[in-house]
Amino acid sequence: MDSLPPSPGDIARLVQPGRVHRAAYIDPAIFDLEMRLIFGRAWLYLCHESQVAEPGSFFTTVMGREPVIVSRDRGGALHVLFNRCTHRGAKLATDETGTAKRFVCCYHGWAFELDGKLAEVPLPEGYGGMPGADGSLDLVRVPRVATYRGFIFASRAKEGPSLSDWLGPIASSFDDMVDRAPGGVLEVAGGVSRHAYDGNWKLVIENHNDTLHPRFVHASSVAAARDQSDAVHSDGAGEVQIKQMRQNGAPAHVWEALGIWTTEWGHSFMGDYHTDARMAARGEEDPVEREYREALEKTHGAERAREIMGVTRFNSIVYPNLSFMSRFRQLRVVQPVSVNRTVVVTYTFRMPLAPERMFRDSIAFANVVNGAGSLVLTDDLETYARVQDGLASQGGDWVDVQRGLGGDQDEANGMLRGQTGTSEIHLRAQFAAWQRWMTP
Ligand code: FES
Ligand SMILES: [Fe+2]
Repeated sequence: MDSLPPSPGDIARLVQPGRVHRAAYIDPAIFDLEMRLIFGRAWLYLCHESQVAEPGSFFTTVMGREPVIVSRDRGGALHVLFNRCTHRGAKLATDETGTAKRFVCCYHGWAFELDGKLAEVPLPEGYGGMPGADGSLDLVRVPRVATYRGFIFASRAKEGPSLSDWLGPIASSFDDMVDRAPGGVLEVAGGVSRHAYDGNWKLVIENHNDTLHPRFVHASSVAAARDQSDAVHSDGAGEVQIKQMRQNGAPAHVWEALGIWTTEWGHSFMGDYHTDARMAARGEEDPVEREYREALEKTHGAERAREIMGVTRFNSIVYPNLSFMSRFRQLRVVQPVSVNRTVVVTYTFRMPLAPERMFRDSIAFANVVNGAGSLVLTDDLETYARVQDGLASQGGDWVDVQRGLGGDQDEANGMLRGQTGTSEIHLRAQFAAWQRWMTP
């Protein structure tokens, strides 16, 4: 590879109109800079409030490569703390989630309250009394924490745009997800699914709004689903999965007409390509759908409920670490491990006041789009690995992202819309944000 040491001047040269230098995907020095300048400063999604609902509950995750604890103290206040003992540095909490009276370090037994305060040090006389009375040995707090409609974010930078300014119009995707839940109540449920791939973290964030790839990458599962008889009658999960796999084979004009929108800071969402055309054409309403609609009407009234159900959004990307499907209640958190290794953790949400059948369908849907054994997801992961391999070769220095370039349309609400649904506008938006973070 041409050597491009990551000075700000070099970084600025990596992103050009309609193309990006491959160093952004394969250079470990650039990855280190990304961890410092992007993941070390941007708002990162951590978890949903339902995952730390009870006093004494905690959730562990990473911000870039930094382990952190999200905790709810006994008074109900939320804290985000670096997961690092202030004695000699051991990681404190290792369970992904749980409840605790205190965090007790495995090494020498220092104990911390859920708000991070150092509570107890064994054999304090060795220090001439309890050390850290001035708070200097309390757990270190992540500087900024904010939530939007139950979704918890934090930033390791003391200063920067507020969460609401930074989200901007992409906040409406969270609104879509929450408003769709009767009573506005959502909870993470059904466990967690986790997978890893051999590729750069940006590949998955780019792929989720890439509407050009399904008919190629997912051709085999589309064909298998088309071959499958409609008369399978499983417990319902099979039908959900077959329907989704067939839907990926939608004709080109469907994808072109979808719509794709971007915001400042690299966020984006795409229109939805799912249709229940056959039932709609017969003027029928599925009984579960009817029960759901009625529950939603109780919360919002008939007119607003119709409006909410009429929103057609599929994937929303909150750059750099979150991708979610508001209508299908799927959420994916991207965790970069190294320049060519990425972990993706996926969650399903349940609407406790909606028909239980909808949650079962969500789990079936999760298994076909996010499960490690999915016929669909595995195609994408193989593709990311092939991209990573190809980019490491001498076969060219530039990644082409010019599809739809010049055709981006200004929308009144501060968003840009791609010329067609298959525009690569979201890649250009992501790299504009990337460049902004990387060249401070
Ligand atoms: S490293 Fe935590 S108590 Fe010593
Ligand atoms: Fe895909």
